[in-house]
Amino acid sequence: MEWVFLEETDSTNRVAKELARQGAPHGTAVLAKRQTAGRGRLGRQFFSPEGGLYLSVILRPQCPVEDRALITPMAAVAVYRALMEDLCIAPRIKWVNDLYIGDKKLGGILCEGCGDAVIVGIGINLYTPEGGFPADIPAVALDPWPGLVDVRELATDIRNYLLDPGPFLREYRSLCLTVGKNVTVHPVQGEPYAARALEIDHRCRLVVERDGHRETLDSGEVSVRF
Ligand code: BTN
Repeated sequence: MEWVFLEETDSTNRVAKELARQGAPHGTAVLAKRQTAGRGRLGRQFFSPEGGLYLSVILRPQCPVEDRALITPMAAVAVYRALMEDLCIAPRIKWVNDLYIGDKKLGGILCEGCGDAVIVGIGINLYTPEGGFPADIPAVALDPWPGLVDVRELATDIRNYLLDPGPFLREYRSLCLTVGKNVTVHPVQGEPYAARALEIDHRCRLVVERDGHRETLDSGEVSVRF
């Protein structure tokens, strides 16, 4: 079974995890038209009404465990490539996993481990929902001409890039909107602090300058002061 298509589910990541536990192979993908409990990073919810792309792909990577951190940035580049190819739309990437158009979020990526598998969950706002996005979500949708987006084709292209990404670091660096900006770092533990984003290193970590010192971040949340 390569694909599972659902009208509605709580979370495609939850379904994909269950399939991974049952032994579903590398590349199995779950695509839903809407989610009732879409999950975002850091325990947040991901608003998932009809009109978006909600995709989870099971990967069974052969790489060392420490390289798994590269899957999230690789997935961001996979989404960029598919959006460019299918719709000529070029989002940028806010480190490490958010897709942006201008200063608004177009979508996000949530990678979750499950035994030897990694579930790559991708949400993209294709159409603005009736009534708009909730006021507390600075989100944007692509809103292409109705019928222009073939969601299954877009999902297939994303999956293909996930399964065969090739080199992606250079692309990631050129797409990352965070570098060069003043940012607020929200560490997993401790108080938020102001910094300046300097570069993406060879492991896709964010190097920042804080009070004249360089720090390398491999996790946590960084908000950009646009
Ligand atoms: C984020 O922006 O914090 C990550 C959002 C990831 C949302 C996607 S939608 C498909 C998959 N299923 C989920 O429950 N979450 C991910």
